[in-house]
Amino acid sequence: LREKYIGQIRDAADEAALEAVRLAAVGKKGEVALKMRELGKMTPEERQVAGPKLNALKDEINSAIAARKAALEDAALEARLRDEWLDVTLPTRTRRVGSIHPISQVTEEVTAIFADMGFSVAEGPQIETDWYNFDALNIPGHHPARAEMDTFYMHRAEGDDRPPHVLRTHTSPVQIKAMEATGAPLRAICPGRVYRADYDQTHTPMFNQVEGIAIDRDISMANLKWCLEEFCRAFFEVDEIELRFRASHFPFTEPSAEVDIRCSWEGGTLKLGEGDDWLEILGSGMIHPKVLQAGGIDPDQWQGFAFGMGIDRIAMLKYGIPDLRAFFDSDLRWLRHYGFGA
Ligand code: PHE
Repeated sequence: LREKYIGQIRDAADEAALEAVRLAAVGKKGEVALKMRELGKMTPEERQVAGPKLNALKDEINSAIAARKAALEDAALEARLRDEWLDVTLPTRTRRVGSIHPISQVTEEVTAIFADMGFSVAEGPQIETDWYNFDALNIPGHHPARAEMDTFYMHRAEGDDRPPHVLRTHTSPVQIKAMEATGAPLRAICPGRVYRADYDQTHTPMFNQVEGIAIDRDISMANLKWCLEEFCRAFFEVDEIELRFRASHFPFTEPSAEVDIRCSWEGGTLKLGEGDDWLEILGSGMIHPKVLQAGGIDPDQWQGFAFGMGIDRIAMLKYGIPDLRAFFDSDLRWLRHYGFGA
């Protein structure tokens, strides 16, 4: 009996096996207990010999189990220490963190600069009615500007004769929405996506504009000029900026001007504020009385300026990005190269 159990205890591979041996040997119904019960049938002389022997065996088995148990626990602890060993001197694996897209960042920069000048932000839908995108902006049905804009039209259901919705071709419809929402006086910028069927290195069918309007009792072109110069200095982070106002035509402004910024292309790199070149950055003018009227504002009482600027365009200038299309390719290598992807 002794040899059998001491052997089994030594061979028990884990605590469950050891417990099974314990039950079989010294448990209530174990073999040793059974033998102890047989003591009752013995003569006193026999009992005096067998009793102490059985008790000694029981003690021996119990202490062997305790010793084996301690050994198993030690081994388990050692295995854990071995498995959970960490080399804290190994270099860490870097995790790439998403970051803001250049267009979103530039939109935020523009918004912050104009906020300092008291402009709030107005937004409008990207799918517009023909009224907001054209008519309200003094571009009636026959006007050539409609054809020039390469407009995307949304189909109406068969038999529905109303004019089709359009993907807005500029942010100017938001001028009207802002006038309707706020009335005069009013100072707002309207950033957002616009759409035109055009595609090359400097044109994508979807791009971003920011519209600006200021309406008050006596707003003039001088206010427009100051505002834009102030903006360019802050945005391009150049102290000396020179803007050129070139007479132009937009149906929704009168007079109208396109604005260029003085620059040079020394060795292929663009420098703003110096040089003999001019780079067009936006369209602008005094809001046409008919447009004020369409927005529910009395042109005899109020006047204002408006401008529309390509966000992608000024982002290209500021960050030296040559191809507009790259903005919308979602190529992480490109984003990281320009310092936008982490
Ligand atoms: N909406 C014009 C465009 O998309 C820009 C513009 C806005 C011009 C406001 C004048 C005033 O080209």
